[in-house]
Amino acid sequence: MAPVWAAMRRPDSLAPYEQALERIDGPVRRALDVGTGTGAGALEIAKRFQDAEVVGVDVSQAMLEEARRLAPGAQFVQGDASALPFRDAEFDVVAHANMIPFLDETARVLRPGGWTVYAFSAGAETPIYVAPERLRRELERRGFTDCAEITAGRGNAVLARRGEGV
Ligand SMILES: C[S@@+](CC[C@H](N)C(=O)[O-])C[C@H]1O[C@@H](n2cnc3c(N)ncnc32)[C@H](O)[C@@H]1O
Repeated sequence: MAPVWAAMRRPDSLAPYEQALERIDGPVRRALDVGTGTGAGALEIAKRFQDAEVVGVDVSQAMLEEARRLAPGAQFVQGDASALPFRDAEFDVVAHANMIPFLDETARVLRPGGWTVYAFSAGAETPIYVAPERLRRELERRGFTDCAEITAGRGNAVLARRGEGV
């Protein structure tokens, strides 16, 4: 899908992701887009948090080649979301668009108080989808707080914050 993925995206595909980023307050120095595909999410973070270092990770080298072409402001790394190639607590934001959640890894690489986003372009019609009530339950079980559910465009997102003491 890599050569055609970006062209298949609709103009509102990132609406829920953008709305979730909009609600993040506080410093964002380093941010990660997991399952970045052709890098649209990473590009959106870079636009919104202009001083941040933005990293996109994906298992597919072909997707990453497109991402490097389309989003030159971000850094792209090949890796598996179930075993992220990053240190503990190195990100202020860990975001996902249309991506399978690997919550233990997100919790590990996110600093205490950092923010995580799970956005789905077409809500329950999105081929990869996790319902917000399930995400909220699983996030809270891992000590995440401030869970918010967002609807925008055709889709939805969940935003949450890693607990300070976790
Ligand atoms: C549905 S696409 C979404 C791409 C992009 N986030 C977007 O919204 O356009 C899912 C992406 O996740 C990647 N992916 C799937 N499993 C993965 C894993 N275990 N680790 C990292 N990336 C993965 C795929 O290669 C693909 O690029």
